[in-house]
Parts: sequence; C-alpha cells; structure tokens
Amino acid sequence: MIIAGCGALNLDLIFEITDIDIVARLGIGLEPGRECVMDHQDATDLLTVLKKEAKLLAKSGGGSAANTLCALSRMGHRCFFIGTVGEDNEGEFLLDSMKGVDCSLVNRSGKSSLCIVVIDRLSQDRALAVVPGSLAIDPDEPKTSTILENCRLFHLSSLAQEDGPDLQGHLTALCPSSCIVSFDPGEVYAAKGYKKIKKILLRTWLLSASDVEFEQIFGKKSVMEVISKGLFGSKIQETMEIPFDFFKKMPPPILAKKSGARGALLASTTSIYSCPARDVEKIVDNTGAGDAFDAGLIHAIFSNKGPKKALEDAVSVAAFSIMSPGRTWIDHLDEVIIHHQRH
Ligand SMILES: Nc1ncnc2c1ncn2[C@@H]1O[C@H](COP(=O)(O)OP(=O)(O)OP(=O)(O)O)[C@@H](O)[C@H]1O
Ligand SMILES: [Mg+2]
Repeated sequence: MIIAGCGALNLDLIFEITDIDIVARLGIGLEPGRECVMDHQDATDLLTVLKKEAKLLAKSGGGSAANTLCALSRMGHRCFFIGTVGEDNEGEFLLDSMKGVDCSLVNRSGKSSLCIVVIDRLSQDRALAVVPGSLAIDPDEPKTSTILENCRLFHLSSLAQEDGPDLQGHLTALCPSSCIVSFDPGEVYAAKGYKKIKKILLRTWLLSASDVEFEQIFGKKSVMEVISKGLFGSKIQETMEIPFDFFKKMPPPILAKKSGARGALLASTTSIYSCPARDVEKIVDNTGAGDAFDAGLIHAIFSNKGPKKALEDAVSVAAFSIMSPGRTWIDHLDEVIIHHQRH
C-alpha cells in the first residue's frame, strides 16, 4: 500500500543562543515561541548574526510531512514524496536525508527552503523562521497523478509559498475517493485562516492540529461544532467501504487535537478519546513532536488498531521523538514500534 506525502522539504538549521532578544531586536519578525515566514535576503542577514552570536547545534532535513513520511518509511511503509528542493548543495543534502522515501517525484529548482530555529539557552524558548525556496510541483505531471491514483493515504503539511494551498487542493482532487487524506496544516497554514485551506480541509479524513492551530483555523468554535457542521471532511463519501478498524469504530472526519505536554485527543461525530502525554525524563528537542504523533497514528491505523490504542501509540511515538535531537529518533524507532510488513 502506497503512502504519499506532500509538504515543505526544509533544511533545518538549529542554533542555540545565550540571549534570544538579540534576534528579536533585528526587527525581521523572529520572536520566541512563534513561527514566521522570511525571505532569503533577511535569512542571509539573520545567518550572519547567528554565525557570530550563536552555536550551530544541528543541521538536518526537515519539514512536517517529510518528517512524518521518513518515520513511516522506517516503520516499513512504501512512501513517496511530492515536493521541491533547490538546485544547490542544500538540495543534495535534503534528498540524502529522505532515506527510504522514494523522491523520484521531488523536483529540483532554484533555492532550497530553510527553517532556522533559534533556541534560548536558558529558557529553552525557541523562535522559528521558515524561508521559502522555489516551488516546482506540477500536478499535471503523469508520474504524480499515477502515484496519487494508487495511494491509500495522502498526508499533507504546509508549503510556505503563496500558491501552496491551491496546488495541494488540486493534488487531493487527483486521489481516488477511497484514499485517506490526512492533513497537518501547522502554524503556517493555520495562520492563513479557514478559507485559504478550505479545499484541502473538505477532502480531509484526519485533521491533525495543535490547540493554537485549531483556534486559528476555526476561531472560537468548539470541536463538536466544527465536526458536526462539516467544516472539514464534508467531501468524504459516506457510503464508501472503509477497510480499517480505526475508521469502522470512528467514522471520518476525525480531528486529532494536540495539546503539547497535556497530551492529545481524537474526536469524531460519534466519539471522543483523550490520552495524557507520556512522562519524558529529559526533553532534548520538542520540535517535530506533532510530526512523530502523525506517523504513530497513521502506522497504528494501518496496523488495524482501534482509535483508543492508535491514539496511545501516537502519543508514545511523539514522546519518544522529543528525547533525541532533530530527526535522529527515527533511527531508533525499533525500540517503540513493530515493523510493518510491506504489501
Ligand atoms: N513536553 C512533552 N512531554 C510529553 N509529550 C509531549 C510533550 N510535548 C509534546 N508531546 C507529545 O507530542 C504531541 C504533539 O505535540 P504538540 O502538541 O506540540 O504538536 P505540534 O504543535 O504539532 O508540534 P510540532 O509542530 O512542534 O511538531 C502531543 O500531543 C504530546 O502527546
Ligand atoms: Mg505541528
């Protein structure tokens, strides 16, 4: 069964600084606790300051859906990625970092996207800047439509470029109606608001969003209001035969709402399950916990687990991921997950 993914492929550069206000004072929108979008010119200025004032902790491939697909590939699933990397050295590095994921649908064009994370050494507060590179995804490319026509699940996360949501809306329309669409909009898409991402939302079976993102997209509406009014998932065909226990027990659309150290919940029109976060001895790097959560949830669904167990698994994989820096947790996944038999 094929899993396809589409989202940003970023080069993550993680810096540690003794005083995060140094970057806040640059006046380029970088603030502790927030994500912002920045152009390559501002990013060059920022990197010049960081090279002098901060320590480079890690350089790794990143991007929400890219992280999730790398983990799913390591869990034994056949994964394809649709995206863009630059024609630069960073692009080469990014393709190498997608170990196990088929990147024949990743086009090379212009400059690579960057994601610069600055962590305050004392408070551990972090500021995050997304620097969009070129976008060269062509939904009309026959190879892309062939993969989407045959995929069982299509997982989407944000593209930083302006036309990202339209393009991804177009891609979801190429999937057969039986294809499970899962969508983790992240802060970048959530900040655009409901209308801009509506086309993807209406096709979404499984929406994975943090508390803040949920409110950015749906305002003050409650979880039940959002689900019962069909604000996402209304394009799912109800009569369809659903092969997994998860969806038999909990018909889509399903919201997976992530609440950081408080845990997460799953909600549909029929039921709600919640799960507290696992205790973690030492948090090394909590970025990407949501991506690990998504991989844990999707793997559990494909392993035919019901919603309660699937949520517990997702929360366990998320907790596991924050105990190692960057994506390195993926290399030790065998400690928490049973490998999937490819078919
Ligand atoms: N401090 C923590 N301790 C234990 N588990 C955590 C902690 N922070 C996050 N998690 C787990 O990870 C899940 C996802 O984290 P979070 O709610 O931060 O999602 P997110 O905002 O999408 O994350 P990101 O976008 O940084 O990947 C949580 O629901 C929780 O289960
Ligand atoms: Mg997230």
